[in-house]
Amino acid sequence: MPLKLKHLLGIQELAIDQIQLILETAESFREISTRPIKKVPTLRGKTVINLFFEASTRTRTSFEIAAKRLSADAINISASTSSVVKGETLHDTAQNLQAMAPDVIVIRHSSSGAPHQLARICDAAIVNAGDGAHEHPTQALLDAFTILDRKKRLEKLKVAIVGDIAHSRVARSNCLLLGKMGAHVTVCAPPTLLPLAFDRTLELVQPASAPGSLKVTHDMDEALQDADVVMMLRIQLERQQETFFPSVREYFRFYGLSAERMRAARPDAIIMHPGPINRGVEIASDVADGPYSVILDQVTSGVAVRMAVLFLLTGGNKDETTG
Ligand code: CP
Repeated sequence: MPLKLKHLLGIQELAIDQIQLILETAESFREISTRPIKKVPTLRGKTVINLFFEASTRTRTSFEIAAKRLSADAINISASTSSVVKGETLHDTAQNLQAMAPDVIVIRHSSSGAPHQLARICDAAIVNAGDGAHEHPTQALLDAFTILDRKKRLEKLKVAIVGDIAHSRVARSNCLLLGKMGAHVTVCAPPTLLPLAFDRTLELVQPASAPGSLKVTHDMDEALQDADVVMMLRIQLERQQETFFPSVREYFRFYGLSAERMRAARPDAIIMHPGPINRGVEIASDVADGPYSVILDQVTSGVAVRMAVLFLLTGGNKDETTG
């Protein structure tokens, strides 16, 4: 089955069957990373450019590994070593990269909508690897893949997303995906870290026909009550021009995840975090490294999910995934 999508710009644009197709394709690619020789010829002759205007460890590395495990040629460009430092615009950068005929351009940018701009200029498939506080679709997909691995379903799961909702593209993409797939999501943040426009996300997640639900609270104990999944988010100081809470100590007291606080969640709850984690700020070290944490499983999932995305966007068909 083909994906019937030219670009992956956000979860908002994805239909439920497209989300399912990506997750099923990732499942069939998962095993490749466990082989002694972790490489199949599936994307031989294809070129993937990773164009990163913001720092990244997990996303950039896993897109590169995903491309290489599928035998594509992977080229990494970071803004700090590109002609962007000489004043070249995003538009000109994209036109010049397109002139070298890549098949996929993976872009991370601090501006919301930057991948959409590239999609208008380039023939290559564009993948949004995080645009400002807007969306991070492959993160939400790998999070769903990780949850499915542990819980075998998304529908009717109770998911708490806690932290800096205002600046988080991860929160937005996860709310959209989990809502579409029928989960019940509670987002929790101090009032200063919840965007005024969050009602718009509520509308997107909760059209009359949507199976899932989304609600907002400022009380972490309420958010965690009987949760199946607890997803913690980093305070994104790089996107904050002002102080949104009195002190780190104060923040942890009200919104940090400790072992004691986890007792409100279900006994088999899993703890997630997209990384990078700030130990002692939004999550205690013993919880991040503890038995309920699937934080490193999320990173492992990222490779399979990004293999699936690259494969499907270059015209791959799920029934032809083995190599
Ligand atoms: N989760 C995530 O996007 O991590 P990086 O910023 O390291 O890519």
